[in-house]
Amino acid sequence: MAEFALLFFTIFSLFSTTVFSQASSSPPKPLVVPIRKDPTTNLIVANIYGRTPLIPVGFIVDLNSRHVWAFCETKYNSTTFSQPKCDSVQCKIANTRYCFTNCQGARAFCHTNTCGYALENPVTHQATVGELAQDVIAIRSTNGYKPGPLVRVRDYLFTCAPANFGETSFPKGVRGVAGLAHAPIALQNVLASRLGIKRIFTMCIPSTSSADGVIFFGSDGPYSFLPGIDVSKSLKYTPLTISPFDEYYVNVKSIKINQKPVPGLNVTLLSVKDTGSGGGTTFNTMLPYTILEESTFKAITSFFAKQLSKVPTVKPVAPFGLCYESKHFSSTRLGPGVPSIDLEMEGKDAVWSIFGLNSMVEARPGVLCLAFVNGKNEYRANVNIGTYQMQDIPLKFDIGKQVLGFGGPLSGVRTHCSNFDFKTSA
Ligand SMILES: *[C@@H]1O[C@H](CO)[C@@H](O)[C@H](O)[C@H]1NC(C)=O
Ligand SMILES: *[C@@H]1O[C@H](CO)[C@@H](O)[C@H](O)[C@H]1NC(C)=O
Repeated sequence: MAEFALLFFTIFSLFSTTVFSQASSSPPKPLVVPIRKDPTTNLIVANIYGRTPLIPVGFIVDLNSRHVWAFCETKYNSTTFSQPKCDSVQCKIANTRYCFTNCQGARAFCHTNTCGYALENPVTHQATVGELAQDVIAIRSTNGYKPGPLVRVRDYLFTCAPANFGETSFPKGVRGVAGLAHAPIALQNVLASRLGIKRIFTMCIPSTSSADGVIFFGSDGPYSFLPGIDVSKSLKYTPLTISPFDEYYVNVKSIKINQKPVPGLNVTLLSVKDTGSGGGTTFNTMLPYTILEESTFKAITSFFAKQLSKVPTVKPVAPFGLCYESKHFSSTRLGPGVPSIDLEMEGKDAVWSIFGLNSMVEARPGVLCLAFVNGKNEYRANVNIGTYQMQDIPLKFDIGKQVLGFGGPLSGVRTHCSNFDFKTSA
């Protein structure tokens, strides 16, 4: 932790001139980035401007990647691209000691005397060592209601991946990954140290792929959605724990369905005591649906089915385990009328109620399935919250205070994550 704080201090001192020149003209401004749900992969894609001349570039949003990385070997044109030399202060900021001393025949994309940084493709899970690089990125400022002018960050530190690093596994037009893990050169932390904004990002994933959701950076609010609903005031808070792998965990103390405790849950797995070795509840934007450890999956699925014992089930549609004909359910503002699943977390009133909108998915026309997947014991965490459960729910990751703020489904207050007013300018 001390080392981490020191790194931030280093980043801050290095770029303090930039920070102060901007601060003197106007206070630091929060930023807003549009995000969309790719219809074929269900991955969340952020649109960020970069390079010179500036062009919009698609990046997969990954809560568990530690940095921003991009394919630089092909289709990369920029007059402001540069690479820090080994032993430079930038390599220290990135906390890497790896140096490419001699590239001769080592690999296709290689520049001698540049720093290496461990890269993992979160789609294909390929791993390699990429090269640190710098270039301009630009993100719109915001007053919380509308987007404002682009804010440029020069010499933004990111990692270059070679061309054959799983590029074809990405949605069309997507050229990299925007990592938001708890790490020194993750996007939110670099923006905070370079621009003097708060170490906070608030993500609102759209429930549709036809309109953009948002991520706000550096702001406690407002987070306003048309027709003028500020959701920042109605968030509930629970402590965030950081795992040894830089992932975000929350402490779910109990799970209820229909207001009744789910029997047979393994209390050891539920607890967040040792996030490195297993158990606990984490977030994963690479998962389209929440993945549960096998015994937890079985306990939740059978208790949910018990609450609906009068409704006939149909043959489950993979990868789900419990399905019904949709005609049996009423349609409400919070989705199909099914029992709510309540995650009771540490903190005052910190209950995350999952309603039909986030718990039931139309897996086939006319068939609704409980949108949770059996992860056997393939995942470290007991509960890995996927994007279907996050959609239309504002999620505020406050890194400074180490708390998570979360809202109820926005349809409950008659708006949506895709209702940020990107069309007009502040
Ligand atoms: C990059 O620049 C080269 C040379 O100017 C040009 O031929 C190529 O089309 C450009 N590529 C992209 C992706 O813009
Ligand atoms: C609960 O989970 C722990 C960790 O996986 C396991 O060691 C233990 O046997 C489980 N308890 C029960 C009652 O299944």
